[in-house]
Amino acid sequence: MIAALLGAGTMGSFHAETLRGLVDELRIYDADPARRTVETLEEALDGASAAVIVTPAAAHAELIRVCVDRGLATFCEKPIAIGLEETLGVVEHVESMGGRVQMGFQRRFDDAYAAARSRIRDGHLGRIHGFSMATLDRTPPPRTYVPTSGGLFKDMHIHDFDSVRWLFGQEVEEVYAAGSVLVDGMFGEFDDVDTSAVNIRLADGTLGTIVGARANAAGYIARLDVYGADDMLSVREDRRYRDFLDRYPDAYQAEMAHFVRVAKGEAEVPCTVGDALEALRIAVAADASRREGRPVRLAEIGERY
Ligand SMILES: NC(=O)c1ccc[n+]([C@@H]2O[C@H](COP(=O)([O-])OP(=O)(O)OC[C@H]3O[C@@H](n4cnc5c(N)ncnc54)[C@H](O)[C@@H]3O)[C@@H](O)[C@H]2O)c1
Repeated sequence: MIAALLGAGTMGSFHAETLRGLVDELRIYDADPARRTVETLEEALDGASAAVIVTPAAAHAELIRVCVDRGLATFCEKPIAIGLEETLGVVEHVESMGGRVQMGFQRRFDDAYAAARSRIRDGHLGRIHGFSMATLDRTPPPRTYVPTSGGLFKDMHIHDFDSVRWLFGQEVEEVYAAGSVLVDGMFGEFDDVDTSAVNIRLADGTLGTIVGARANAAGYIARLDVYGADDMLSVREDRRYRDFLDRYPDAYQAEMAHFVRVAKGEAEVPCTVGDALEALRIAVAADASRREGRPVRLAEIGERY
């Protein structure tokens, strides 16, 4: 199988290592000539049966369209786009073309999170009352990344929002979010926040809280606690992690192995563009809630934003 990797920066070079062990030929196209093995996008895609998009977010929407129009199985790192309308346009296009697009929500492939999901789904905990999640980076991203990121909710908490839907098998009904600038004043300059707390209400009334920050001296953290009538569970880190690549190497490899099976027609797409759209809608609601200082129902998203 021939695969094309589009974008070979931090995340793309990690995926490249994994892909080399999974496909017969890997062609790498990057805007930076020093990082590519082929000179043009066309050269990367001609004759390929799969494409892996790991460019910055601004290029995702167009590249998804190009790959889907060529009938390629496509993997794309989150997000589809920063904007809701642009994201919706891509989702409609992919669905109308019957495209196979797997989005990069690697937590779904992490053993500890997958085990937690099974215990939630098999009724082991009884009626779930509440949950709490925490995602904290060890160090903030570079200044140049901040204005392109879409902000803390779309960039970082998008993984938590996807996890909530995936873990509990329910849609989010309402969010009430707050944010502060406590880590670095640059976030405020870009109308962003670096510290957050989000209250979430699920469709069946279950309540949860997500906290986050762009810096945490104790390392990169992605935690989960779920409380039920009969039992509880926790996902905790077993050591101090440098960053997401240190925390999730197995999950990133597993999602790529799954994607290659999708490309070969051996597996279904596990996290779709529709899932990415729903996670983005939650992020948009959280952003609106933070700005307006009020709870925002998901039903409002799309009507007003
Ligand atoms: N799932 C996760 O946990 C996770 C973690 C980090 C980053 N990401 C996502 O991965 C993506 C890439 O992030 P990164 O940190 O690797 O960025 P990066 O800046 O390190 O790398 C991006 C690369 O894409 C290249 N590029 C830019 N425009 C291009 C284009 N039009 N065509 C081809 N190449 C192009 C750049 O030259 C660069 O080499 C982003 O969407 C980010 O949100 C996901």
